[in-house]
Amino acid sequence: MKQLETAIRKSANRRSFLKNSLAASAATVGVGLLSNGLSALGADHDREITEGDAAILRFLAAAEILETDLWQQYTELAGQDAPNSGYKTGLIQLDGDMPQYISDNTDDEMSHELFINAYLKSKGAKTVDLERFRTLEGSEVTEIPGIDGKKRLTNLMELSVDTSWWTRYRSDNQNPDFGDTFPNAVPTLAMGKFTAIPRNNTELEFGSTNVPVHTHVQAIANTAGFHFAFIEQGGTSLYASVAQRVSSVEVLRIVLSIGGTEIMHFQTWHDKAGNAIPLTDGALVFPDLTADIPQPETLQSNLIMPEPTIFLSKKFPVCSIIRPTATKGVAMGAVKALTADGLFIGQTPDFFEFLRDLAEEADEARREI
Ligand SMILES: [Fe+2]
Ligand SMILES: [Fe+2]
Repeated sequence: MKQLETAIRKSANRRSFLKNSLAASAATVGVGLLSNGLSALGADHDREITEGDAAILRFLAAAEILETDLWQQYTELAGQDAPNSGYKTGLIQLDGDMPQYISDNTDDEMSHELFINAYLKSKGAKTVDLERFRTLEGSEVTEIPGIDGKKRLTNLMELSVDTSWWTRYRSDNQNPDFGDTFPNAVPTLAMGKFTAIPRNNTELEFGSTNVPVHTHVQAIANTAGFHFAFIEQGGTSLYASVAQRVSSVEVLRIVLSIGGTEIMHFQTWHDKAGNAIPLTDGALVFPDLTADIPQPETLQSNLIMPEPTIFLSKKFPVCSIIRPTATKGVAMGAVKALTADGLFIGQTPDFFEFLRDLAEEADEARREI
C-alpha cells in the first residue's frame, strides 16, 4: 500500500513537473515571439563565450567568407539573374533549377558569414575580415558587365576537384575516420587543373543549333557541378566536427543550425552532379554515372542517401552518418583540402599565414563546461 502511495505521489509530482516545465517553455516561446531584441535570445546569450568558442567561430567565419566569394563568382556567371549563356545552359543540363540553387547557396553563405561575425561582435570578440586579401584576378568575361577586373579571394580557374566524397558516401564498410581512403568518381578531374567558370567570352558562348553547348563549355559546367558538392560536403563535415569542441550551448546551436544547411546544400549538389553530361574534353573525362550497367554501387548516381557504414567502432551496427566527423585537427584539414583544391592559387604568403593561424587556434579549442 505504501509502495502504491509513493508511486502515486511520484506520478503526481511528475505530472506537476511536466505542467510546470510546459508552462516555462511556453513562456520562453512567448518571449521569443513577443520581443524582437536580444531578450529573445534567452539567458544563455548574456554569458561570455570562451576563447575556444570564439576561435572556432572565427575560423568558421573565414571559411564562410571564402565560400561567399566563390559562390558569388558562380552566381554572377550562372545564377538566377545571370544572362543566358552556353555555360549557364551547361549547368541547366544538370538540372533546370541550377541557376536558382546557385543564387540561393550564395545568399546562404553570405548570411552565414554576416551572422557569425555579428555574433562574435555581440560577445565583444574579434571578428574576421579578409578584404585585404582580395587580390586575385577572376574571369575576364566582358559579355556580362561587372565581372572583368573584379578582385577575388578565391581562384576557380585552376581546380583539381576531389570527387572521392562520391564513393565515400556510397561505401558500406569504410569510413575516413578509420583511416580509409576512397577512389574518385571522376578521376581525371582530381589529376589536372581545370576551370569551373568561363575564363573569357569564348568559354561562355552557346554552341551550334544542333549542339547547344560546346563540349568544352559543358566540361566547365560539369566541373562546377562536382565542385559545388565538394565544397558543401566539406562544410557538412567541418561543422559536425567542430561542434564536438564548443562549450556554450548557444554556440552549439549556431554550429548545428548553420551546419545543417551545409548538409542540405551538399545533398542537393550531390544529386545534381550525377547528371553531369558524359564527355571527353582533352584530358578531362566525365563518365556516365547514370548508366544502369555495368555500374558498381560505389558509382551509381541515384544512391545519394548516405549508405550506412562503420561508425565509432566496428563492434556497433553500421549507421547512416556524415563522414568524416573526427574533430582533431579538422580546421587545418579544411585549409589543406581547400588548398589542394586549387582555390587559393595566386594567394599571398600572408593569406596562408592568416588562415593557418585561425585554423590552429580553432583546433586548440577544447570543450569547457
Ligand atoms: Fe556556409
Ligand atoms: Fe556552404
